[in-house]
Amino acid sequence: MAPLTSLRDFLVLFLVLIPLGEVFASIPRKTVQYDNAKIFRENGSSNYSTMTLREDLGVLFIGARDAVYALDLEDISSKKAGVYWQVSEEQNTSCKSKGKDSMECQNYIKTLQTLHDGRMLVCGTNAYNPTCDYMTYANGTLTLEGKKEEGRGKVPFDPFQRSTSVMVGTELYSATSVNFLGTEQVLQRHSSPAIRTEHRQSWLNKPSFVQLDVVPESVNNLDGDDDKVYMFFSEEAMEFDLPDQIRVSRVARVCKGDLGGQRTLQQKWTSYLKARLDCPVPLEPSLPAIIQDIFLLKDQDWRKSVFYAVFSPQTTTSDLSTVCAFSVADIGKVFSEGRYMTPVTMESETRWVTHTGEEPVPRPGTCMTNAVRDLGIEHSLDLPDKTLQFVRDQPLLEGAVPPLTGGPLLLQRGAKLSVIVVDRVMAEDGEIHHVMFIGTEEGTVQKAVQYAAGDTVIIQETQVFQTLEPIKVLRLSSGTGQLYAGSGSGVVQIPVRDCGRYGSCLDCILARDPYCAWDTTLAACSSVLNLPTGSRNMYQSLKHADASMCPRPVPMKPLTLPFNVGSSIHLPCQPASNLAQVSWHFAKQPLQLRDRYQMLSQDLLIVSALASDAGRYTCQSLEEVKGRLYTRTEAAYILQPTKTLLVLQLSVALLSVLLGVVVLWSVRGHVRLRARIHPAEPGQNNNNNWRTDPGCVPGSEVNNNHTIITIEDMEDNQTARVSVALLSMILGSLMLWNISRDQLSHRVFRMEEGLQDHMSPVNSSSDTVIHMGDI
Ligand SMILES: *[C@@H]1O[C@H](CO)[C@@H](O)[C@H](O)[C@H]1NC(C)=O
Ligand SMILES: *[C@@H]1O[C@H](CO)[C@@H](O)[C@H](O)[C@H]1NC(C)=O
Ligand SMILES: *[C@@H]1O[C@H](CO)[C@@H](O)[C@H](O)[C@H]1NC(C)=O
Ligand SMILES: *[C@@H]1O[C@H](CO)[C@@H](O)[C@H](O)[C@H]1NC(C)=O
Ligand SMILES: *[C@@H]1O[C@H](CO)[C@@H](O)[C@H](O)[C@H]1NC(C)=O
Repeated sequence: MAPLTSLRDFLVLFLVLIPLGEVFASIPRKTVQYDNAKIFRENGSSNYSTMTLREDLGVLFIGARDAVYALDLEDISSKKAGVYWQVSEEQNTSCKSKGKDSMECQNYIKTLQTLHDGRMLVCGTNAYNPTCDYMTYANGTLTLEGKKEEGRGKVPFDPFQRSTSVMVGTELYSATSVNFLGTEQVLQRHSSPAIRTEHRQSWLNKPSFVQLDVVPESVNNLDGDDDKVYMFFSEEAMEFDLPDQIRVSRVARVCKGDLGGQRTLQQKWTSYLKARLDCPVPLEPSLPAIIQDIFLLKDQDWRKSVFYAVFSPQTTTSDLSTVCAFSVADIGKVFSEGRYMTPVTMESETRWVTHTGEEPVPRPGTCMTNAVRDLGIEHSLDLPDKTLQFVRDQPLLEGAVPPLTGGPLLLQRGAKLSVIVVDRVMAEDGEIHHVMFIGTEEGTVQKAVQYAAGDTVIIQETQVFQTLEPIKVLRLSSGTGQLYAGSGSGVVQIPVRDCGRYGSCLDCILARDPYCAWDTTLAACSSVLNLPTGSRNMYQSLKHADASMCPRPVPMKPLTLPFNVGSSIHLPCQPASNLAQVSWHFAKQPLQLRDRYQMLSQDLLIVSALASDAGRYTCQSLEEVKGRLYTRTEAAYILQPTKTLLVLQLSVALLSVLLGVVVLWSVRGHVRLRARIHPAEPGQNNNNNWRTDPGCVPGSEVNNNHTIITIEDMEDNQTARVSVALLSMILGSLMLWNISRDQLSHRVFRMEEGLQDHMSPVNSSSDTVIHMGDI
């Protein structure tokens, strides 16, 4: 590989050219809230980040902060036992004196490994003083033996630093930092003597460990090869000649039988090789996504075992997470046949280039195979110095391990993916599909299916934690069909075969969930587990999603909603599928979305409703699955204007008119009276323009000596009354006219009312389905 000189050259490395049509980020078909979940939470306890399944005991072991719990696999809310392991006062003080805070000076349980005798090895950070102990679970109690052992090299000092371990036979392999500062990171086998990595940048350069796994490659191996331990991690890349530090994902491996070298690489791995691991994103010019978690889907034939990995972005400029699968065979091929990278120093600068010269024999980093044994080399202690020096200086192989499918299985925008487990599921027809459960940093778990035919679809996303906290760990018990998700605040149990979620036949078939089929006798979506193939009346159509056999459902009963003219109306619609397109219909005609009709995600919003908006509304969804189009009614409403407002407006209008008439009549009576009085005293001007008050009541007696007002005032008063009368009559008439006009035309009233006015829960169990069949 030639040195790269620009970031662009570098980014091109991580692109794959995939037809544009396939460049899409997957969205889950269905999003659900996980209600009535079985949850484990213990008062005062948190950081449930370590989990070990013991199907033999029916127990799930949880490592938390200062505690270990044993939970019933069938129901984790029932705690079988718990044991506390807190730091001592002395350790607490010592930790504090080193400048660490109360949060860090606790005992975070990071390792829970099953030993061959059934006991558990438990290791915790123990206030920056890594310590291990042995634990037994018997007679319903958890007991720590109190044999405090050195935990350095098994778990980190810093509770926030990532580490991992695996038991291989009786030996513990771990990858963690071994010093207080967390700067010295090591892959180590705790055997006697212990074998570990060289402390060199070319071996591990600021690594973040993800996982260790063993593959039994000695089984049925004609080459007489050894079992191998694979380590997945990310680190700062050295091979790119770039100014910025860029992290890359890696896979490294060592041989189980490695004993280290005789002179060179004493008590160090002689078989440590590493290669880049990429999950190339189509046409996304950003830095490579970084591996977060891995799951080994084991096969009877280890060559067919597959590592499923989740990658999430290393910078904030990208929000694209991916899932890729890598076969053990492909990884093995890179290590056994790939070319090495070698450092060359030019003008005091070190660059990594492809090694083109001769390679020592046996091949550097090789395990003990028949071919090696034929050279008279029985174990790694016999390896020649040339081979050992080569691997010590250049353990990196050129290029990257290609993903099994050439590119990502899934592309996901938004919440970062954090953890993954994979189940192998036999469908109703006997075919095997792979179901991935992927945890996100927002507390959701996605269920994605990689069908035997090759396509991958996220069929469901479940919000398992109410808070947006990252899922730290996922474990799958295929035996009980349960998934366990751990976060900072709790552990949740999720059944993998929750077929009851699919409420209708259409939902059941279109979900294409390999665990589920439509049972025509029970008229329910049921699990296909343990069914003899083709038995009963189970119907599943994973390949074609053909729901034409589903019974035609009874039409949905519309919900009648009263509404006030002038108010805004909100009609909810929750389609059964996130992939469906939603359209609204009014009186059987498609509704034009403009002006007063707006879509609020899938819901319909009618602004300032008119009386003429009364009628039937339906929310229709259209979904294409495997080339077939399905429409169904997701919600139906009948809107009826309420009478109360109309009655109120009418009353006010009529009252106004009445008031006007009464006032006018009173004024008229007075004018008549005054006309009678006036001629009797013509020209009399005593009291300077003062005149008698006619009184308010028509026909009342006139008393010149009492209440008197000026003529001008009197005239003003009358004018005012006439005006009031006329005004209220005009107002009343106007209101009447308005009301009648609104009944006929499309007048807009500006009377905003709360949107919630007409919000009502909708039962979208989608029992109204119209199946359109093939298009
Ligand atoms: C946990 O603590 C809260 C308050 O501190 C208390 O109300 C609740 O009953 C406790 N729950 C258990 C299971 O002890
Ligand atoms: C450690 O010491 C601090 C005070 O320095 C105290 O608040 C805390 O509870 C102690 N923790 C333990 C586990 O003893
Ligand atoms: C469990 O109980 C059995 C019999 O009741 C006893 O023999 C055994 O020693 C107990 N084990 C532990 C670890 O206490
Ligand atoms: C432990 O959990 C708390 C609360 O969930 C969180 O703030 C803290 O970062 C966690 N500590 C570690 C080491 O993960
Ligand atoms: C929806 O309707 C079904 C059957 O009609 C009923 O069993 C279910 O409880 C209803 N759900 C809600 C949320 O009303």
